[in-house]
Amino acid sequence: MTRLRLGVNIDHVATIRNARGGAFPDPVRAARLAAEAGADGITAHLREDRRHISDADIERLAREIDLPLNLEMAATDEMLAIALKHRPHAACIVPEKREERTTEGGIDAAGQHNRLAPIVARLGDAKVRVSLFIEADKRQLDAARSLGAPVVELHTGAYCDTTGAEREKHLQAIREGAAYGASLGLEVHAGHGLSYDTVKPIAAIPEIRELNIGHFLVGEAIFDGFGASIRRMRELMDEARPTSRPN
Ligand code: PXP
Repeated sequence: MTRLRLGVNIDHVATIRNARGGAFPDPVRAARLAAEAGADGITAHLREDRRHISDADIERLAREIDLPLNLEMAATDEMLAIALKHRPHAACIVPEKREERTTEGGIDAAGQHNRLAPIVARLGDAKVRVSLFIEADKRQLDAARSLGAPVVELHTGAYCDTTGAEREKHLQAIREGAAYGASLGLEVHAGHGLSYDTVKPIAAIPEIRELNIGHFLVGEAIFDGFGASIRRMRELMDEARPTSRPN
């Protein structure tokens, strides 16, 4: 099985910084630590309201960090211009407004086709690897394929937020979605809400190539340190894929 990459989302380091204003804790320092701890990429969401990551953070991450940067962004002209300016390795298009979402919370790639198509195309032309954050749903996967996005990120939020049979149902949908997505030629990623308790069944899904994890790791950093929590998450991912080797 191919090695599963870990993208570390540093948004909530910026959330803590912004609670007081000022300069610390510095998300770029967190990105450096994540790199030292074995992260394969850094993920940051520049929200329209700038509630955590700022424009200056994106500029510094693009300039100062050697790892691939995955910019999470809404499908707006403003965000497109920022992405085209910095040309991150990847851009993951996420919903920010209720009407852009499906019931579970992924972007409605099927319903938003006309709005997404030019944005996906412009990013692709600029050699930014486009990912669509969607539900593990055939209709959404088909829409991602017809939009020409090379990557999808499957939303694991409902799986993480539920328990018992309900969680199992969401897990099964993610397994089937990952297999279907890969059969369409899409590279499949997953994320949202993952923790030490929930990561292994997702990491064990063979078609998934990358996980993006943030909030839990930043929370654990309070108790164990950021590097230690990233290393622990990496260990759990590797335990779920015992045959992992670098790709
Ligand atoms: N993937 C996407 C597309 C997201 O929007 C987020 C949250 O910003 C994450 C992954 C990471 O989720 P969490 O912070 O809950 O680990």
